[in-house]
Amino acid sequence: MSEGGEGTVGPGPARRIRMVVNGTPREAEAEPRTLLVHFLREQLGLTGTHVGCDTSNCGACTVHLDGRPVKSCTVFAVQADGHDIRTVEGLERGGVLSPVQAAFTEAHGLQCGFCTPGMVMTATALLEREPNPSADTIREALRGNLCRCTGYVNIVKAVELAARKG
Ligand code: FES
Ligand code: FES
Repeated sequence: MSEGGEGTVGPGPARRIRMVVNGTPREAEAEPRTLLVHFLREQLGLTGTHVGCDTSNCGACTVHLDGRPVKSCTVFAVQADGHDIRTVEGLERGGVLSPVQAAFTEAHGLQCGFCTPGMVMTATALLEREPNPSADTIREALRGNLCRCTGYVNIVKAVELAARKG
């Protein structure tokens, strides 16, 4: 019987989860129900990945899982066991912002910044697979990332700028 009593499912025993995060092997305990976003933030201290909704709508939690952008509130930490994760903290090199991060700054692609880590991770994945996307392609790629501040115009301009600068 589960520890939650008859008819309920308990959290289950914690298990050791190992993954490579931003190029570094990391490991920590997590319950089977722990979401990847909470594992990254709370167990690994990588709070650059934001939680905006927990219902897979906002995209603030976007990280790369084996090179593909995923909403980390839709993935259990155990599902990422043994996989490669990149978060927004992994983009800069030696204190220098990545081209996408720099372009968001230069083109004023953010205001409060809450959505920005997810936007940047989605845009980075887009430019890695398609270096010169049209504005429509950028909008399509970012359709799962919501921003309540900017009206999106400068976000699209930022991605175009990052593409131009390579
Ligand atoms: S927190 Fe994951 S989509 Fe909003
Ligand atoms: S900059 Fe505030 S939510 Fe996007």
